[in-house]
Amino acid sequence: MNRRRFIDAAIACSVLTTVAKGGRVDSDFSGMRKSFNTDWRFHKGEAPGAEASGFDDSSWRPLDLPHDWAIEGPFDIKYNARCGGLPFHGTGWYRKSFDVSAELKGKVISIVFDGAMYNAHVWINGHFLGNRPFGYIEFQYDISSYLNYGGSNEIAVQLKPEDLSSRWYPGAGLYRNVWLDVRDSTHVAQWGTFVTTPEVSDAWATVNVETALVGSGSCEYEVVDPDGQIVARGTSSELRIKNPKRWDIDSPNLYLLRTTVYVRGEVVDQTVTRFGIRTLKFSKEGFWLNGRKVRIQGVCLHHDNGPLGAVVNRRAIERKLQIMKAMGANSIRTSHNPPSNELLDLCDELGLLVMDEAFDVWERQKVKNGYNKFFKQWAERDLKDMVRRDRNHPSVFMWSIGNEIGEQRDSVEGPAIARRLDGYVKELDTTRPTTCGFNKWPTPYKNGMAAQIDIAGMNYKPLDYGEAVNAYLPNNPVVGSETSSCTSSRGVYHLPIKKYKTHSSKQVSSYDLIGPPWAYPPDVEFDALERNPEILGEYIWTGFDYLGEPTPYGGKDNSTNGYWNGDWPARSSYFGAVDLCGFPKDRFYLYQSQWTKKPMVHVLPHWNWEGSGHENIPVYAYTNCEEVELFVNGKSFGRKIKGKDLTKLLVKFNRYKSNHFMSKYRLSWEVPYAPGSLKVVGYIGGKPVAEKEIKTAGKPAQIALSPDRSDLSADGVDLSYVTVRIEDADGNLCPLADNLVRFQVEGAGKIVGVGNGNAATTEPFVADYRTAFNGLCMLIVKAGMFGGPIRISAVSEGLKSSRCSLLVR
Ligand code: GAL
Repeated sequence: MNRRRFIDAAIACSVLTTVAKGGRVDSDFSGMRKSFNTDWRFHKGEAPGAEASGFDDSSWRPLDLPHDWAIEGPFDIKYNARCGGLPFHGTGWYRKSFDVSAELKGKVISIVFDGAMYNAHVWINGHFLGNRPFGYIEFQYDISSYLNYGGSNEIAVQLKPEDLSSRWYPGAGLYRNVWLDVRDSTHVAQWGTFVTTPEVSDAWATVNVETALVGSGSCEYEVVDPDGQIVARGTSSELRIKNPKRWDIDSPNLYLLRTTVYVRGEVVDQTVTRFGIRTLKFSKEGFWLNGRKVRIQGVCLHHDNGPLGAVVNRRAIERKLQIMKAMGANSIRTSHNPPSNELLDLCDELGLLVMDEAFDVWERQKVKNGYNKFFKQWAERDLKDMVRRDRNHPSVFMWSIGNEIGEQRDSVEGPAIARRLDGYVKELDTTRPTTCGFNKWPTPYKNGMAAQIDIAGMNYKPLDYGEAVNAYLPNNPVVGSETSSCTSSRGVYHLPIKKYKTHSSKQVSSYDLIGPPWAYPPDVEFDALERNPEILGEYIWTGFDYLGEPTPYGGKDNSTNGYWNGDWPARSSYFGAVDLCGFPKDRFYLYQSQWTKKPMVHVLPHWNWEGSGHENIPVYAYTNCEEVELFVNGKSFGRKIKGKDLTKLLVKFNRYKSNHFMSKYRLSWEVPYAPGSLKVVGYIGGKPVAEKEIKTAGKPAQIALSPDRSDLSADGVDLSYVTVRIEDADGNLCPLADNLVRFQVEGAGKIVGVGNGNAATTEPFVADYRTAFNGLCMLIVKAGMFGGPIRISAVSEGLKSSRCSLLVR
């Protein structure tokens, strides 16, 4: 089969005016863009001469992008657990051959990498195009003058992620999308459209457009409203829209700006740029979105997609964000690097505010081979490219120039670099504030570094909100840029409740109070925010568990340079409110109780304590109701009032004087264990409005499969996440089950990953089997390119097997 793809004139001449169905919408969508993801060849290791034309890559592995070469594993103690215990470093090569039709001569043809991990070197037909070190940044090369028109062409990409180059799992390879753009010689430059809405009222909005053209031509603009109607048109770069529909977190209305470029009356180029109309106001007193005060209920998220690794997948990211929204989150911090386009598109669509963060490090190293090596040469380019790429997204509302930067302690370099980076951002966008996450209290405030940016980000300093920070920054808004860092393992409860550093099981109890020395339970932050209403809000560390950084296991502290393998196989994070598969931990409900209004109540722990030697079991309820009543086997253990009945938490963190914290954010009982039912009922105004019941499960008897979606698109990327539950004969979840489940997937899709949320296992993510962890595991199935059913079966020794089917169309 000829695996070359023909880039033909027909594609180049078709001007798309609508956005591809169900696909991504580029913030700056060029009409003549083609996915360049299929039919690549990959080789892990050195490959002398692979950059040259005619190199024989026939023995290399054929694959489609996006691709993360490390996620298949195997996990090995010889790799760094801090980076997921996976083989991400070393050299990898990708090559692709393709034909270009003769009619394209004269067009401008560019290859666009949404991101390449990392230190990419790129060649076309043996000609060196360039090097881009930063793994999270989008870059492109104009390849027009090196192409063989009417003949065959070869592109070669070398990547070299280094050991000790990241504090978490970065992934490896061409893990984001690659595109080919075919444009007229006169066209809108890359990220050449900037839309702002300087005046917004209920009656009118002014839309200002800045267009950077390559070549000379004239532009015509059209604005399409959220219902698809053209509501403004003209050649002036200032357009007016009547009765604008605001973009907001509850109503993420999106407009499109269509820019058409003419040369001598002929259309030569067209781009579609999505934007939103909204107002942002930040002051010492808080943050206002469209005139309404909004408290930031934020989550820090790393870029990986759990069992899928670092590969970009729109549905994986959408699901992640939907789970965060269900928890009540209204904002994402893209810790600690520029996110994928897909994440920003989805935040625009779902109504999530984004703190768009550039760097985890400047010139001072955190790990030996980090981005600090490239900062001097590349920081300006990388930061500006991030701002140019992302500044039309209505979701983006703050630019972060760094996280816990080493220069905080340097009274010369800290303020100087902060000022410089702030200046780069402001050159390109003055409509949003800058921020930075500081953790070295009070140094960056004293030495003037914090004053260089607009919003002071405080990492883990709830005790210093209010007077302490205001003494340094009387006028600047302050945000809890990173908070809590509480750790837990889903479904794990260690009794009696105590504060410990690590546990022999390499798991962490879910009574939600364990964490490293800088960490504290969510309750402490809730209380600090309540007492300091001017703080803009918080970004919890983290929304999802992520690959790597298995604190409290493995490593010494945040600046450890070496390997974190002391508690192998602990190899991924325990910080998430949900686990690596997206299964909620108890903490998910603690945040939900604080962040949402729809009546809810949650109860922990599980109710299978027979033979455990524990007679009295501490029971916690998380609720947004006024009162909660606890029942064991129908017998009431009384009602508790939220805000009045307090729970004593063992708390110890840096500079905190007491050894406990009286929390009004959770209700608790201590009850004698009796198998049967544990039930909580939430009341508002004396009326029952929510309940949750957990039953003692019998022996594992059956498998239950529940796909999150059973109707998939035949696009080769759509996903269904199938929850696999180990149940007793009555359908109760077996909360301690660890049965090995084997999967068979046939038809119009295939398995792309499995997982169970256990941070301390070396079972592979790419496999057709998985052990349940506390009763649950996950199967991730990807649709193929053709329609038809996908038939899934799950079997496990001694259990009744289960089947389900999905439809791809
Ligand atoms: C913070 C850091 C995060 C993560 C976290 C774990 O200090 O900014 O990237 O390492 O600690 O608690």
